[in-house]
Amino acid sequence: MNTTLIDKYNIPAPRYTSYPTVPFWEVDKFSVNRWQQSVIRSFEESNPAEGISLYIHLPFCEQLCTFCGCNKRITKNHQVEHPYIEAVLKEWQMYRSLFAHPPRIKELHLGGGSPTFFGAKNLAYLIESILKDTQLDTQPLFSFEGNPNNTTEEHLKALFDLGFRRVSYGIQDYNPAVQKAIHRIQPFEQVQKVHELSQKVGYTSINHDLIYGLPLQTLDSVLDTIQKTQQLRPDRIAFYSYAHVPWIKGNGQRGFSEKDLPQSAQKRELYEEGRKLLEVSGYHEIGLDHFSLKEDDLYQAFQSGNLHRNFMGYTSSKTQLMIGLGVSSISDSWYGFAQNVKKVEEYQHLVNQGELPVFRGHHLNQEDLVIRQHILNLMCQLKTNWEMSTAFFAELPQVWKRLKSFEQDQLISLNDHGMHIKTAGQPFLRNICMAFDTRFWRKQPAGQTFSMSI
Ligand SMILES: C[S@@+](CC[C@H](N)C(=O)[O-])C[C@H]1O[C@@H](n2cnc3c(N)ncnc32)[C@H](O)[C@@H]1O
Ligand code: SF4
Repeated sequence: MNTTLIDKYNIPAPRYTSYPTVPFWEVDKFSVNRWQQSVIRSFEESNPAEGISLYIHLPFCEQLCTFCGCNKRITKNHQVEHPYIEAVLKEWQMYRSLFAHPPRIKELHLGGGSPTFFGAKNLAYLIESILKDTQLDTQPLFSFEGNPNNTTEEHLKALFDLGFRRVSYGIQDYNPAVQKAIHRIQPFEQVQKVHELSQKVGYTSINHDLIYGLPLQTLDSVLDTIQKTQQLRPDRIAFYSYAHVPWIKGNGQRGFSEKDLPQSAQKRELYEEGRKLLEVSGYHEIGLDHFSLKEDDLYQAFQSGNLHRNFMGYTSSKTQLMIGLGVSSISDSWYGFAQNVKKVEEYQHLVNQGELPVFRGHHLNQEDLVIRQHILNLMCQLKTNWEMSTAFFAELPQVWKRLKSFEQDQLISLNDHGMHIKTAGQPFLRNICMAFDTRFWRKQPAGQTFSMSI
Protein backbone atom coordinates (compact mmCIF):
# COMPACT_ATOMS: atom_id res chain seq x y z
CA MET A 1 0.00 0.00 0.00
CA ASN A 2 1.38 3.36 -1.06
CA THR A 3 1.76 5.45 2.11
CA THR A 4 2.42 8.67 0.14
CA LEU A 5 -0.99 8.33 -1.50
CA ILE A 6 -2.62 7.60 1.85
CA ASP A 7 -1.10 10.74 3.34
CA LYS A 8 -2.22 12.73 0.29
CA TYR A 9 -5.82 11.51 0.25
CA ASN A 10 -6.61 10.85 3.91
CA ILE A 11 -8.86 13.86 4.40
CA PRO A 12 -12.35 14.34 5.85
CA ALA A 13 -14.72 13.01 3.16
CA PRO A 14 -18.41 12.09 2.90
CA ARG A 15 -19.57 8.49 2.48
CA TYR A 16 -22.03 9.65 -0.20
CA THR A 17 -25.19 7.91 0.93
CA SER A 18 -26.78 11.00 -0.66
CA TYR A 19 -25.87 13.85 -2.98
CA PRO A 20 -25.84 16.65 -1.97
CA THR A 21 -24.50 15.49 1.39
CA VAL A 22 -26.38 16.73 4.46
CA PRO A 23 -24.02 19.66 5.37
CA PHE A 24 -24.62 21.11 1.90
CA TRP A 25 -28.39 20.99 1.91
CA GLU A 26 -29.98 24.38 1.21
CA VAL A 27 -32.10 24.26 4.32
CA ASP A 28 -33.24 27.87 4.01
CA LYS A 29 -34.90 27.09 0.65
CA PHE A 30 -36.63 23.96 1.98
CA SER A 31 -40.38 23.89 2.55
CA VAL A 32 -42.48 21.02 3.89
CA ASN A 33 -45.19 21.82 1.38
CA ARG A 34 -42.81 21.49 -1.56
CA TRP A 35 -41.42 18.30 0.02
CA GLN A 36 -44.91 16.78 0.11
CA GLN A 37 -45.47 17.75 -3.53
CA SER A 38 -42.25 16.00 -4.49
CA VAL A 39 -43.39 12.86 -2.64
CA ILE A 40 -46.69 12.91 -4.55
CA ARG A 41 -44.86 13.39 -7.87
CA SER A 42 -42.40 10.61 -7.14
CA PHE A 43 -45.16 8.26 -6.03
CA GLU A 44 -47.16 8.88 -9.21
CA GLU A 45 -44.08 8.33 -11.38
CA SER A 46 -42.93 5.12 -9.74
CA ASN A 47 -46.01 3.32 -8.40
CA PRO A 48 -47.15 0.66 -8.75
CA ALA A 49 -44.40 -0.34 -11.23
CA GLU A 50 -41.38 0.14 -8.98
CA GLY A 51 -42.84 0.25 -5.50
CA ILE A 52 -41.48 2.20 -2.54
CA SER A 53 -38.87 1.58 0.15
CA LEU A 54 -39.53 2.11 3.82
CA TYR A 55 -36.95 2.70 6.51
CA ILE A 56 -38.05 2.69 10.14
CA HIS A 57 -35.64 3.97 12.79
CA LEU A 58 -36.03 2.27 16.17
CA PRO A 59 -33.59 4.20 18.37
CA PHE A 60 -33.52 2.44 21.74
CA CYS A 61 -30.63 0.39 23.15
CA GLU A 62 -30.18 -0.86 26.70
CA GLN A 63 -26.44 -0.15 26.77
CA LEU A 64 -24.16 2.35 25.14
CA CYS A 65 -21.36 1.08 22.88
CA THR A 66 -18.70 3.78 23.04
CA PHE A 67 -17.77 3.60 19.33
CA CYS A 68 -21.32 4.13 18.09
CA GLY A 69 -22.02 6.95 15.65
CA CYS A 70 -25.74 6.17 15.19
CA ASN A 71 -28.73 8.06 16.54
CA LYS A 72 -29.74 6.10 19.63
CA ARG A 73 -31.38 6.55 23.02
CA ILE A 74 -30.03 4.49 25.90
CA THR A 75 -32.68 3.24 28.32
CA LYS A 76 -33.70 0.12 30.18
CA ASN A 77 -37.29 1.30 30.38
CA HIS A 78 -39.39 -0.70 27.92
CA GLN A 79 -42.46 1.46 28.52
CA VAL A 80 -41.05 3.65 25.73
CA GLU A 81 -41.90 1.05 23.07
CA HIS A 82 -45.64 1.56 22.81
CA PRO A 83 -45.81 5.40 22.46
CA TYR A 84 -42.94 5.33 19.99
CA ILE A 85 -44.67 2.74 17.78
CA GLU A 86 -47.91 4.71 17.87
CA ALA A 87 -46.03 7.83 16.74
CA VAL A 88 -44.38 5.96 13.85
CA LEU A 89 -47.80 4.70 12.73
CA LYS A 90 -49.21 8.22 12.83
CA GLU A 91 -46.31 9.51 10.77
CA TRP A 92 -46.91 6.72 8.24
CA GLN A 93 -50.59 7.73 7.99
CA MET A 94 -49.47 11.28 7.10
CA TYR A 95 -47.52 9.91 4.14
CA ARG A 96 -50.28 7.42 3.26
CA SER A 97 -52.74 10.30 2.93
CA LEU A 98 -50.54 11.72 0.13
CA PHE A 99 -50.86 8.56 -1.96
CA ALA A 100 -53.83 8.29 -4.32
CA HIS A 101 -53.75 4.47 -4.20
CA PRO A 102 -52.21 1.80 -1.97
CA PRO A 103 -48.42 1.83 -2.22
CA ARG A 104 -46.54 -1.24 -3.33
CA ILE A 105 -43.90 -2.09 -0.71
CA LYS A 106 -40.69 -3.24 -2.32
CA GLU A 107 -38.24 -2.79 0.53
CA LEU A 108 -38.63 -2.46 4.29
CA HIS A 109 -35.72 -2.04 6.69
CA LEU A 110 -35.74 -1.74 10.46
CA GLY A 111 -32.65 0.11 11.65
CA GLY A 112 -31.46 1.64 14.86
CA GLY A 113 -30.56 1.80 17.61
CA SER A 114 -31.54 -1.77 18.22
CA PRO A 115 -34.84 -2.88 16.65
CA THR A 116 -34.54 -6.00 18.83
CA PHE A 117 -34.83 -3.80 21.94
CA PHE A 118 -38.56 -3.96 21.13
CA GLY A 119 -40.55 -7.03 22.10
CA ALA A 120 -41.38 -9.41 19.26
CA LYS A 121 -45.13 -8.80 19.67
CA ASN A 122 -44.66 -5.06 19.46
CA LEU A 123 -42.56 -5.38 16.30
CA ALA A 124 -45.21 -7.62 14.77
CA TYR A 125 -47.91 -5.07 15.62
CA LEU A 126 -45.82 -2.29 14.05
CA ILE A 127 -45.21 -4.15 10.79
CA GLU A 128 -48.75 -5.52 10.46
CA SER A 129 -50.14 -1.99 10.94
CA ILE A 130 -47.71 -0.51 8.40
CA LEU A 131 -48.61 -3.15 5.81
CA LYS A 132 -52.37 -2.69 6.20
CA ASP A 133 -53.89 -1.46 2.91
CA THR A 134 -50.65 -1.76 1.00
CA GLN A 135 -49.70 -4.03 -1.85
CA LEU A 136 -46.71 -6.32 -1.40
CA ASP A 137 -44.11 -6.63 -4.11
CA THR A 138 -43.76 -10.15 -5.54
CA GLN A 139 -40.22 -10.29 -4.17
CA PRO A 140 -40.22 -8.00 -1.15
CA LEU A 141 -36.88 -7.27 0.51
CA PHE A 142 -37.53 -7.07 4.26
CA SER A 143 -34.55 -6.77 6.57
CA PHE A 144 -33.65 -5.75 10.11
CA GLU A 145 -30.61 -4.93 12.21
CA GLY A 146 -30.32 -7.49 14.96
CA ASN A 147 -28.23 -6.95 18.04
CA PRO A 148 -26.73 -10.42 18.69
CA ASN A 149 -26.99 -9.82 22.44
CA ASN A 150 -30.77 -9.46 22.48
CA THR A 151 -32.16 -11.07 19.32
CA THR A 152 -34.35 -13.98 20.38
CA GLU A 153 -36.00 -16.87 18.58
CA GLU A 154 -39.31 -15.10 19.13
CA HIS A 155 -38.02 -12.00 17.27
CA LEU A 156 -36.70 -14.11 14.42
CA LYS A 157 -39.90 -16.12 14.03
CA ALA A 158 -42.27 -13.16 14.35
CA LEU A 159 -40.42 -11.16 11.70
CA PHE A 160 -39.98 -14.21 9.45
CA ASP A 161 -43.75 -14.76 9.51
CA LEU A 162 -44.18 -11.17 8.31
CA GLY A 163 -41.90 -11.69 5.30
CA PHE A 164 -38.44 -10.81 6.69
CA ARG A 165 -35.69 -12.93 5.09
CA ARG A 166 -32.65 -10.75 5.78
CA VAL A 167 -30.95 -9.91 9.01
CA SER A 168 -27.82 -7.91 9.72
CA TYR A 169 -25.86 -8.49 12.93
CA GLY A 170 -23.52 -5.95 14.50
CA ILE A 171 -20.34 -7.91 15.30
CA GLN A 172 -17.58 -5.26 15.08
CA ASP A 173 -14.68 -7.28 16.59
CA TYR A 174 -14.24 -10.47 18.66
CA ASN A 175 -11.11 -9.46 20.57
CA PRO A 176 -11.91 -9.18 24.31
CA ALA A 177 -9.68 -6.09 24.81
CA VAL A 178 -11.32 -4.29 21.88
CA GLN A 179 -14.79 -5.31 23.08
CA LYS A 180 -13.99 -3.91 26.51
CA ALA A 181 -12.72 -0.62 25.03
CA ILE A 182 -15.88 -0.17 22.94
CA HIS A 183 -18.11 -1.36 25.77
CA ARG A 184 -19.63 -4.18 23.83
CA ILE A 185 -19.08 -7.60 25.27
CA GLN A 186 -20.22 -10.17 22.74
CA PRO A 187 -18.54 -13.58 22.66
CA PHE A 188 -18.30 -15.61 19.45
CA GLU A 189 -20.50 -18.36 20.95
CA GLN A 190 -23.35 -15.86 21.38
CA VAL A 191 -23.09 -14.75 17.75
CA GLN A 192 -22.84 -18.35 16.56
CA LYS A 193 -25.99 -19.22 18.46
CA VAL A 194 -28.07 -16.40 16.99
CA HIS A 195 -26.60 -16.85 13.49
CA GLU A 196 -27.46 -20.55 13.42
CA LEU A 197 -30.89 -19.86 14.87
CA SER A 198 -31.55 -17.38 12.03
CA GLN A 199 -30.63 -20.03 9.46
CA LYS A 200 -32.84 -22.57 11.18
CA VAL A 201 -35.80 -20.19 11.16
CA GLY A 202 -35.28 -19.68 7.41
CA TYR A 203 -33.41 -16.40 6.89
CA THR A 204 -31.72 -16.55 3.49
CA SER A 205 -29.42 -13.52 3.67
CA ILE A 206 -27.41 -12.91 6.83
CA ASN A 207 -25.01 -9.99 7.08
CA HIS A 208 -22.31 -9.40 9.66
CA ASP A 209 -21.02 -5.86 10.33
CA LEU A 210 -17.31 -5.70 11.14
CA ILE A 211 -15.30 -2.55 11.77
CA TYR A 212 -11.61 -1.83 11.21
CA GLY A 213 -9.81 1.02 12.94
CA LEU A 214 -11.38 0.48 16.38
CA PRO A 215 -9.40 1.28 19.54
CA LEU A 216 -6.74 -1.31 20.44
CA GLN A 217 -7.25 -3.29 17.24
CA THR A 218 -4.18 -4.95 15.77
CA LEU A 219 -3.71 -6.73 12.47
CA ASP A 220 -3.83 -10.07 14.29
CA SER A 221 -7.06 -9.23 16.09
CA VAL A 222 -8.75 -8.12 12.85
CA LEU A 223 -7.64 -11.26 11.00
CA ASP A 224 -8.81 -13.41 13.89
CA THR A 225 -12.22 -11.69 13.78
CA ILE A 226 -12.45 -12.41 10.04
CA GLN A 227 -11.44 -16.04 10.55
CA LYS A 228 -14.15 -16.49 13.16
CA THR A 229 -16.63 -14.78 10.84
CA GLN A 230 -15.70 -17.18 8.04
CA GLN A 231 -16.60 -20.13 10.23
CA LEU A 232 -20.21 -18.92 10.19
CA ARG A 233 -20.03 -17.87 6.52
CA PRO A 234 -22.56 -15.01 6.43
CA ASP A 235 -23.86 -14.19 2.94
CA ARG A 236 -22.69 -10.62 3.24
CA ILE A 237 -20.09 -8.78 5.27
CA ALA A 238 -19.92 -5.03 5.78
CA PHE A 239 -16.33 -4.18 6.68
CA TYR A 240 -16.69 -0.57 7.78
CA SER A 241 -14.02 1.97 8.40
CA TYR A 242 -14.41 3.16 11.98
CA ALA A 243 -15.87 6.67 11.72
CA HIS A 244 -14.41 8.63 14.59
CA VAL A 245 -16.85 11.49 14.97
CA PRO A 246 -16.48 12.64 18.61
CA TRP A 247 -17.93 16.05 17.72
CA ILE A 248 -21.39 14.49 17.45
CA LYS A 249 -22.70 15.25 20.92
CA GLY A 250 -23.73 12.44 23.22
CA ASN A 251 -22.44 9.58 21.10
CA GLY A 252 -20.14 8.42 23.86
CA GLN A 253 -17.09 8.07 21.66
CA ARG A 254 -14.90 9.55 24.35
CA GLY A 255 -14.76 6.21 26.21
CA PHE A 256 -11.18 5.68 24.96
CA SER A 257 -8.36 7.94 23.95
CA GLU A 258 -7.15 9.00 20.50
CA LYS A 259 -3.84 7.22 21.03
CA ASP A 260 -5.69 3.86 21.13
CA LEU A 261 -6.81 4.31 17.52
CA PRO A 262 -4.86 2.81 14.59
CA GLN A 263 -3.84 5.72 12.32
CA SER A 264 -3.97 6.20 8.53
CA ALA A 265 -1.52 3.71 6.90
CA GLN A 266 -1.79 1.31 9.83
CA LYS A 267 -5.58 1.54 9.64
CA ARG A 268 -5.61 0.99 5.90
CA GLU A 269 -3.42 -2.08 6.32
CA LEU A 270 -6.15 -3.59 8.51
CA TYR A 271 -8.55 -3.20 5.60
CA GLU A 272 -6.16 -4.40 2.89
CA GLU A 273 -5.13 -7.52 4.78
CA GLY A 274 -8.72 -8.17 5.85
CA ARG A 275 -9.86 -7.83 2.25
CA LYS A 276 -7.28 -10.35 1.06
CA LEU A 277 -8.43 -12.87 3.64
CA LEU A 278 -12.07 -12.33 2.69
CA GLU A 279 -11.32 -12.71 -1.01
CA VAL A 280 -9.45 -16.01 -0.65
CA SER A 281 -12.46 -17.40 1.14
CA GLY A 282 -14.88 -16.53 -1.62
CA TYR A 283 -16.12 -13.02 -0.73
CA HIS A 284 -16.25 -10.37 -3.44
CA GLU A 285 -15.68 -6.69 -2.74
CA ILE A 286 -18.63 -4.52 -3.69
CA GLY A 287 -18.35 -0.75 -3.92
CA LEU A 288 -17.34 0.78 -0.60
CA ASP A 289 -16.66 -1.50 2.42
CA HIS A 290 -19.02 -4.32 1.37
CA PHE A 291 -18.40 -7.97 0.53
CA SER A 292 -20.73 -10.73 -0.53
CA LEU A 293 -20.73 -14.34 -1.61
CA LYS A 294 -21.38 -14.96 -5.32
CA GLU A 295 -24.79 -16.47 -4.58
CA ASP A 296 -26.06 -13.36 -2.77
CA ASP A 297 -28.13 -10.93 -4.82
CA LEU A 298 -25.90 -7.99 -3.82
CA TYR A 299 -23.10 -9.54 -5.87
CA GLN A 300 -25.46 -10.28 -8.74
CA ALA A 301 -26.75 -6.69 -8.70
CA PHE A 302 -23.15 -5.41 -8.73
CA GLN A 303 -22.31 -7.61 -11.72
CA SER A 304 -25.41 -6.63 -13.69
CA GLY A 305 -25.07 -2.89 -12.98
CA ASN A 306 -28.28 -2.83 -10.90
CA LEU A 307 -26.68 -2.06 -7.54
CA HIS A 308 -28.11 1.01 -5.82
CA ARG A 309 -27.03 3.07 -2.82
CA ASN A 310 -29.25 5.07 -0.52
CA PHE A 311 -29.39 6.10 3.15
CA MET A 312 -29.67 2.43 4.11
CA GLY A 313 -26.40 1.66 2.28
CA TYR A 314 -26.14 -0.69 -0.71
CA THR A 315 -29.24 -2.45 -1.98
CA SER A 316 -30.00 -4.77 -4.87
CA SER A 317 -33.12 -2.89 -5.92
CA LYS A 318 -33.75 0.75 -6.68
CA THR A 319 -36.93 2.58 -5.83
CA GLN A 320 -37.37 6.24 -6.68
CA LEU A 321 -39.22 6.94 -3.44
CA MET A 322 -37.92 6.05 0.00
CA ILE A 323 -39.84 7.07 3.09
CA GLY A 324 -37.93 7.19 6.37
CA LEU A 325 -40.06 6.99 9.51
CA GLY A 326 -39.01 7.62 13.10
CA VAL A 327 -36.49 9.92 14.80
CA SER A 328 -33.62 11.22 12.62
CA SER A 329 -34.76 9.24 9.55
CA ILE A 330 -34.11 10.73 6.14
CA SER A 331 -36.61 10.35 3.30
CA ASP A 332 -35.71 10.62 -0.36
CA SER A 333 -38.22 11.47 -3.10
CA TRP A 334 -35.43 11.63 -5.72
CA TYR A 335 -36.29 15.32 -6.17
CA GLY A 336 -35.77 16.13 -2.51
CA PHE A 337 -34.58 14.95 0.92
CA ALA A 338 -36.21 15.53 4.29
CA GLN A 339 -34.87 14.63 7.72
CA ASN A 340 -36.86 14.06 10.91
CA VAL A 341 -36.04 15.63 14.27
CA LYS A 342 -33.52 13.64 16.31
CA LYS A 343 -35.03 13.69 19.80
CA VAL A 344 -37.66 11.10 20.74
CA GLU A 345 -39.79 13.55 22.79
CA GLU A 346 -39.84 16.20 20.06
CA TYR A 347 -40.64 13.59 17.42
CA GLN A 348 -43.59 12.20 19.37
CA HIS A 349 -44.82 15.68 20.25
CA LEU A 350 -44.85 16.87 16.61
CA VAL A 351 -46.48 13.73 15.28
CA ASN A 352 -49.13 13.77 18.00
CA GLN A 353 -49.92 17.36 16.96
CA GLY A 354 -50.50 16.11 13.41
CA GLU A 355 -47.32 17.68 12.02
CA LEU A 356 -44.73 15.98 9.83
CA PRO A 357 -41.70 15.81 12.17
CA VAL A 358 -39.31 17.09 9.49
CA PHE A 359 -36.75 19.70 10.59
CA ARG A 360 -34.56 20.14 7.53
CA GLY A 361 -34.31 19.12 3.91
CA HIS A 362 -33.15 19.95 0.43
CA HIS A 363 -34.76 20.27 -3.00
CA LEU A 364 -32.45 19.00 -5.74
CA ASN A 365 -31.84 21.29 -8.72
CA GLN A 366 -31.00 20.05 -12.22
CA GLU A 367 -27.25 20.08 -11.56
CA ASP A 368 -27.71 18.13 -8.30
CA LEU A 369 -29.67 15.45 -10.15
CA VAL A 370 -26.94 14.99 -12.77
CA ILE A 371 -24.10 14.93 -10.21
CA ARG A 372 -26.06 12.59 -7.98
CA GLN A 373 -26.22 10.10 -10.85
CA HIS A 374 -22.45 10.32 -11.49
CA ILE A 375 -21.71 9.71 -7.81
CA LEU A 376 -24.14 6.79 -7.72
CA ASN A 377 -22.46 5.33 -10.83
CA LEU A 378 -19.05 5.55 -9.16
CA MET A 379 -20.23 4.17 -5.84
CA CYS A 380 -22.16 1.28 -7.43
CA GLN A 381 -20.28 0.50 -10.66
CA LEU A 382 -16.88 2.16 -10.15
CA LYS A 383 -17.33 4.02 -13.44
CA THR A 384 -19.31 6.83 -15.04
CA ASN A 385 -19.52 8.59 -18.39
CA TRP A 386 -20.67 11.89 -19.82
CA GLU A 387 -21.34 10.91 -23.44
CA MET A 388 -25.07 11.66 -23.22
CA SER A 389 -26.08 15.30 -23.07
CA THR A 390 -28.15 14.48 -19.96
CA ALA A 391 -24.93 13.58 -18.11
CA PHE A 392 -23.33 16.94 -18.81
CA PHE A 393 -23.22 19.84 -16.33
CA ALA A 394 -21.56 23.21 -16.60
CA GLU A 395 -18.78 22.50 -14.09
CA LEU A 396 -17.65 19.25 -15.74
CA PRO A 397 -14.40 20.90 -17.01
CA GLN A 398 -13.44 21.74 -13.39
CA VAL A 399 -14.30 18.20 -12.31
CA TRP A 400 -12.07 16.95 -15.12
CA LYS A 401 -9.19 19.06 -13.76
CA ARG A 402 -9.66 17.59 -10.29
CA LEU A 403 -9.77 14.06 -11.74
CA LYS A 404 -6.41 14.62 -13.46
CA SER A 405 -4.61 14.25 -10.13
CA PHE A 406 -6.12 10.76 -9.68
CA GLU A 407 -5.16 9.89 -13.26
CA GLN A 408 -1.56 10.97 -12.63
CA ASP A 409 -1.51 8.77 -9.52
CA GLN A 410 -2.76 5.89 -11.73
CA LEU A 411 -5.90 5.45 -9.67
CA ILE A 412 -8.38 6.02 -12.50
CA SER A 413 -8.54 5.74 -16.25
CA LEU A 414 -9.95 8.89 -17.86
CA ASN A 415 -10.95 9.80 -21.43
CA ASP A 416 -13.20 12.27 -23.26
CA HIS A 417 -16.26 10.10 -22.73
CA GLY A 418 -15.91 8.95 -19.14
CA MET A 419 -13.78 7.30 -16.49
CA HIS A 420 -13.39 4.15 -14.46
CA ILE A 421 -11.70 3.45 -11.14
CA LYS A 422 -8.75 1.05 -11.22
CA THR A 423 -8.19 -1.53 -8.48
CA ALA A 424 -5.48 0.73 -7.01
CA GLY A 425 -8.02 3.55 -6.87
CA GLN A 426 -10.72 1.71 -4.89
CA PRO A 427 -9.37 2.73 -1.46
CA PHE A 428 -9.86 6.35 -2.60
CA LEU A 429 -13.45 5.95 -3.83
CA ARG A 430 -14.75 8.63 -1.44
CA ASN A 431 -12.05 11.08 -2.62
CA ILE A 432 -12.78 10.37 -6.29
CA CYS A 433 -16.50 11.02 -5.76
CA MET A 434 -15.54 14.31 -4.11
CA ALA A 435 -14.10 15.50 -7.42
CA PHE A 436 -17.72 15.69 -8.67
CA ASP A 437 -19.03 17.37 -5.53
CA THR A 438 -19.34 20.90 -6.87
CA ARG A 439 -21.15 22.09 -3.74
CA PHE A 440 -18.18 21.05 -1.62
CA TRP A 441 -15.68 22.91 -3.82
CA ARG A 442 -17.77 26.08 -3.93
CA LYS A 443 -18.08 26.52 -0.18
CA GLN A 444 -16.71 24.24 2.49
CA PRO A 445 -18.63 24.01 5.76
CA ALA A 446 -17.17 25.45 8.95
CA GLY A 447 -15.90 22.94 11.53
CA GLN A 448 -15.29 19.24 11.06
CA THR A 449 -18.25 17.49 9.48
CA PHE A 450 -17.03 14.24 7.90
CA SER A 451 -14.94 11.32 9.13
CA MET A 452 -11.52 10.73 7.52
CA SER A 453 -11.62 8.98 4.13
CA ILE A 454 -9.11 6.25 5.07
C1 LIG B 1 -26.74 1.38 14.04
S1 LIG B 1 -25.91 -0.10 14.30
C2 LIG B 1 -27.31 -1.08 14.61
C3 LIG B 1 -27.00 -2.49 14.94
C4 LIG B 1 -27.29 -2.96 16.34
N1 LIG B 1 -27.71 -1.93 17.22
C5 LIG B 1 -26.04 -3.56 16.87
O1 LIG B 1 -25.26 -2.80 17.44
O2 LIG B 1 -25.83 -4.74 16.69
C6 LIG B 1 -25.44 -0.57 12.66
C7 LIG B 1 -23.97 -0.67 12.39
O3 LIG B 1 -23.40 0.61 12.26
C8 LIG B 1 -22.00 0.46 12.40
N2 LIG B 1 -21.44 1.61 13.11
C9 LIG B 1 -21.95 2.24 14.18
N3 LIG B 1 -21.14 3.24 14.58
C10 LIG B 1 -20.08 3.25 13.73
C11 LIG B 1 -18.91 4.05 13.60
N4 LIG B 1 -18.65 5.04 14.45
N5 LIG B 1 -18.06 3.78 12.59
C12 LIG B 1 -18.31 2.78 11.71
N6 LIG B 1 -19.41 1.99 11.77
C13 LIG B 1 -20.27 2.22 12.77
C14 LIG B 1 -21.76 -0.83 13.18
O4 LIG B 1 -21.04 -1.75 12.40
C15 LIG B 1 -23.16 -1.31 13.49
O5 LIG B 1 -23.25 -2.71 13.47
S1 SF4 C 1 -23.81 -0.10 18.22
FE1 SF4 C 1 -25.90 -0.78 18.18
S2 SF4 C 1 -26.32 -1.45 20.30
FE2 SF4 C 1 -24.48 -0.23 20.39
S3 SF4 C 1 -25.21 1.83 20.94
FE3 SF4 C 1 -25.00 1.73 18.68
S4 SF4 C 1 -26.99 1.18 17.96
FE4 SF4 C 1 -26.95 0.69 20.17
